[in-house]
Amino acid sequence: MYFCAYSLRMKLVFATNNPHKLEEVQQMLTGKVKLLSLKEINCHEEVEETSDTLEGNSKLKADYITNSYAFDCFADDTGLEVETLNGEPGVYSARYGGEPRSAEKNITKLLGQLNGAENRKAQFRTVITLNLEGKQYSFEGICKGIITKENKGEGGFGYDPVFQPEGYTKTFAELSSEEKNKISHRGLAIRKLVAFLNEYPN
Ligand code: IMP
Repeated sequence: MYFCAYSLRMKLVFATNNPHKLEEVQQMLTGKVKLLSLKEINCHEEVEETSDTLEGNSKLKADYITNSYAFDCFADDTGLEVETLNGEPGVYSARYGGEPRSAEKNITKLLGQLNGAENRKAQFRTVITLNLEGKQYSFEGICKGIITKENKGEGGFGYDPVFQPEGYTKTFAELSSEEKNKISHRGLAIRKLVAFLNEYPN
């Protein structure tokens, strides 16, 4: 019966306020998982990202939803880790250039820090924490590349104009979103999560 099938669908909150991210992941999941946004569970507060690791922040967000709203949930956190800067800006990527936050200020600071540097190796890293039926799981996606000496391209967001993925001569900002999703840190972590959920026993 249709009603039974629907009621058996696993409900899972994606701790994001970005409807595009939600839609993208929902499309990758088989019918048994129904994703809910923060808005749909009436969560309107911002969870403070007070941890000094990506793992810690994604766990903070997922745990907040599970503990306060009693929902299974997953949350992601991403940072740009630059080798010669000992992994900076890392967990502070969004606010690297100071408040108020802007991608332009973040990039200006980064290029300044790397001025004259020969080693420009960097990686984007995404960590996803999933709380499911009382257990916690973690998924990681890494995309390696280099930081260019100047901005190139108009697409994407954040550090995209100065991040050139390994094996490419273009920055993320010069790739289409389809091309970027195929190789990106977030795309990889999400595909690992989706594969896990699609295999998860009913
Ligand atoms: P978030 O955890 O997805 O909010 O990412 C934190 C910060 O990392 C963002 O504010 C951006 O500055 C940077 N960032 C994350 N993902 C990307 C990306 O795909 N391209 C460029 N910058 C990114």
